[in-house]
Amino acid sequence: MSRCLEFREETDADFDAIASLHDTAFGGGMESRIVTCIRQGHRPYLSYVALSDSRVCGHALFSEVDVIGAGTSAIAVALGPVAVLPAHQLQGIGTQLIRHGLKWCRELHYDRCFVLGDPAYYGRFGFCQAFASGCWFGTRRDRPAFQILLFDQGPVDLPRGEVRYAPVFYEEESVN
Ligand SMILES: CC(C)(COP(=O)(O)OP(=O)(O)OC[C@H]1O[C@@H](n2cnc3c(N)ncnc32)[C@H](O)[C@@H]1OP(=O)(O)O)[C@@H](O)C(=O)NCCC(=O)NCCS
Repeated sequence: MSRCLEFREETDADFDAIASLHDTAFGGGMESRIVTCIRQGHRPYLSYVALSDSRVCGHALFSEVDVIGAGTSAIAVALGPVAVLPAHQLQGIGTQLIRHGLKWCRELHYDRCFVLGDPAYYGRFGFCQAFASGCWFGTRRDRPAFQILLFDQGPVDLPRGEVRYAPVFYEEESVN
């Protein structure tokens, strides 16, 4: 029987299902805490859900981060967390969530998006190691998992430096 798949921005009624989705997909409470904190903050974000037969089965969060350089700072956006319920994985849902979010980033004229995750997955969207573009997260600067996607391939010299996420991202993440 074919399922009805739908994608849209979250509503208040999705909050519990999104938290439970992350707790299931990641096996801990950190990701759902991140989503809650970002909602309660004062910076722009995109919280995008996938629904299968009207039930939340996937979620992706895009939120602002700061790039702090020597005497410079800039605003960018970061993807994460993103998750799909195990029974719905490997069906293209994560890909559609991420592609939609990247379109949102472009429409809002962010010049780059960061992600901390498996390069084998994010490479397909055009992400590559951030350190090659002069940006890093935490104290281990050249970690392959910290990746960047540049939206404007023109000759723009973007501010480089440490990428600072919202404080909640540092609560359990080992940045060393
Ligand atoms: C990672 C995740 C969001 C991908 O969503 P999905 O809907 O299952 O993925 P899609 O169907 O869009 O893409 C499937 C492809 O991605 C690959 N893929 C999926 N998860 C991957 C991973 N963690 N690492 C590398 N490749 C991965 C699959 O092998 C498949 O490759 P193919 O197209 O070459 O066959 C999902 O597996 C998930 O929720 N995982 C648990 C939570 C998690 O790890 N989130 C990401 C944290 S960085």
